[in-house]
Amino acid sequence: MDCTLIGAPLQIGAGQLGCEMGPSALRIAGLRTALEELGHSVKDNGNLSPRAFDEMPHPNKAVHHLGETVAWVEALSAAAYEHSKAGMPIFLGGDHAISAGTVPGLARRAAELGRPLFVLWLDAHTDFHTLETTVSGNLHGTPVAYYTGQTGFDGFFPALAHPVATQNVCMIGIRSVDAAEKAAIRTTGITVHDMRVIDEHGVAVLVRNFIERVRAANGLLHVSFDVDFLEPDIAPAVGTTVPGGATFREAHLIMEMLHDSGLVTSLDIVELNPFLDERGKTARLLVDLVASLMGKRVMDRPTVTG
Ligand code: ARG
Ligand code: MN
Ligand code: MN
Ligand code: MN
Repeated sequence: MDCTLIGAPLQIGAGQLGCEMGPSALRIAGLRTALEELGHSVKDNGNLSPRAFDEMPHPNKAVHHLGETVAWVEALSAAAYEHSKAGMPIFLGGDHAISAGTVPGLARRAAELGRPLFVLWLDAHTDFHTLETTVSGNLHGTPVAYYTGQTGFDGFFPALAHPVATQNVCMIGIRSVDAAEKAAIRTTGITVHDMRVIDEHGVAVLVRNFIERVRAANGLLHVSFDVDFLEPDIAPAVGTTVPGGATFREAHLIMEMLHDSGLVTSLDIVELNPFLDERGKTARLLVDLVASLMGKRVMDRPTVTG
């Protein structure tokens, strides 16, 4: 497969600085080599940068860095559209606000192909705030509400030509949801698999069911991987750790199942804050997880049971 690495060193969507270093840490941890060892051809497109911007005031005084975020969203949306024409774009975040750009760009590509876009959102958080409901004002808490076309972005974020149907969004790993998000998300078709659902059923059945839905609809599948999806002990390099995350084995299993599905067409790796890492261990784990997603397996043959 032809993979394109696109760095998106956006950090002001998060509550603490450092995600700007995410693309560098992923590169230094050996992402390119890991993909090449699996037989993929890799083009590293370097890092994006936004156009010149002015800061934008918002009636919700908590909202910060809106003008800068909008400039990034435009750049990312254009890049996602462009780099999804052929091969697999891998976006190296950057905080999760980058998905407010990547997903709409991919949705535009999907619409052009006449296929629906599905999103697998691996995260401790739903990121379903609007500009009006966010309390922290950190815009990494808003991308899902934006790209699914909820109101509350009009006149600030770019108008959305192709909102993602909420029925096509599946979240796994959820364990921290603000009150306004909880109320809003309930009225949508988004599938929210919180940790309780994982504990009760296991990740495999949840992922398998979603994959089957994507396959049945002939969809494109975008995976958006927030580092805080993982258990903080194994992935400390994120500013929004929440205890009780996905284990090493659950995360690898999800990646392996996604690989076997053959359906994944694009990927975001977001919220890596190398300033908070322990000797690069989170960055290295992320590279290993991307390798699993791209075909690395323990035995050099498909897994057979029984
Ligand atoms: N809901 C919280 C907020 O709005 C946390 C958001 C965390 N988002 C993330 N992408 N890590 O501030
Ligand atoms: Mn997130
Ligand atoms: Mn999160
Ligand atoms: Mn909040």
